[in-house]
Amino acid sequence: MKLIEEIYQKIDENSKNFLGYPLAKDFDYREFAPFLNVCLNNIGDPESPSTLLFNTKSIEKEVVAFFADILSTDMEKAWGYVTNGGTEGNLYGLYLARESFRNPIVYYSEASHYSVKKNLHLLNIDSIVVRSQNNGEIDYEDLEILLSMNRHRPAIFFLNIGSTMKEAIDDLDKIKQTIRKYSIKDYYIHCDAAFLGCIAPFRDPKPKFDFLEGVDSIAISGHKFIGSPLPCGVVLVKRKHRNRIVNSVSYVGTLDTTITGSRNGLTPLFLWKFIQEHGKDGLAKRVKESMEIADYAEKKIKELGIDVWRNPQALTIVFEKPSDKICSKYQLASEDNIAHIICVPGITKDQIDAFVAEYKEDLKTVEAYATPVY
Ligand SMILES: Cc1ncc(COP(=O)(O)O)c(C=O)c1O
Repeated sequence: MKLIEEIYQKIDENSKNFLGYPLAKDFDYREFAPFLNVCLNNIGDPESPSTLLFNTKSIEKEVVAFFADILSTDMEKAWGYVTNGGTEGNLYGLYLARESFRNPIVYYSEASHYSVKKNLHLLNIDSIVVRSQNNGEIDYEDLEILLSMNRHRPAIFFLNIGSTMKEAIDDLDKIKQTIRKYSIKDYYIHCDAAFLGCIAPFRDPKPKFDFLEGVDSIAISGHKFIGSPLPCGVVLVKRKHRNRIVNSVSYVGTLDTTITGSRNGLTPLFLWKFIQEHGKDGLAKRVKESMEIADYAEKKIKELGIDVWRNPQALTIVFEKPSDKICSKYQLASEDNIAHIICVPGITKDQIDAFVAEYKEDLKTVEAYATPVY
């Protein structure tokens, strides 16, 4: 069909050009094409069999176990499932947090992903937005003031482990100090590691964010650093939290522990293939290679003489927002007067060079316009 072919060509071209979103491009899952011809549905809990026998739950469990391992836990202490992405994982974490207490308050920084506010609205939980610092990290002093005013209520901390715009990491140790200082007995820590969940475990020093540090739940996107043609992700939670909400449904003969009923059976196959091919060592290598590209990009963009900024070891390079033409061609995400590129796998030095060359030319035009005429 001509129309569909045209749409495909456009997507193919646009996905080669983009630099502004954390979506790895170096995947090929065509071997799973036969699965496009069958019904596939991982309905319900991945650990619970269903009346429907066309699922990939055995593979999904292996995927979840791999993530448990890189997040310093195991399947006895933790439970999880393959989600539709980071947003669903965050919704799930907040849902379990809400079910843990009576009348809690969620604290999250203004640098959090836009979906957090909507998730909180859906769950109808009280929340407070905490100021963020210039580097995108939560403002600990503001958090302390807000917490001290509400110390009689259970606290849910929604932490960014890689904020959307600047890839900032909220400092778990500082949050714990504040919890201790105000003797908060009932609290829950959720980490939004949508982008950094597969990266942070391989950084040196490793940021504190996982189950070793006592966090309650972690959400990760699968289509970001691993890469997938379909959105996906993994949510991992302490098993005791999942057990609190477990429900059995006779209609589908399984446990209703997930946000949606029907669930994608294809994306666990993609994540599983990646894990088989790369494993932990491959992920560590992927992180190292991406960091090299980010170092290169930072250096090259700095040579343009514009303001450039990057959090330590981040794959995200933040700089002055270029012209609309450049933003549109390279699909750069922007906020106020800043834009960023994110050096995910699949982005090469050649692409960075092409971007920098075009940006350089563009700056000349902007400067020409900006030169006052006397
Ligand atoms: C920090 C953060 N959290 C959550 C999300 C949402 O993830 P998803 O698009 O997988 O739902 C994003 C997406 O960019 C993000 O950057």
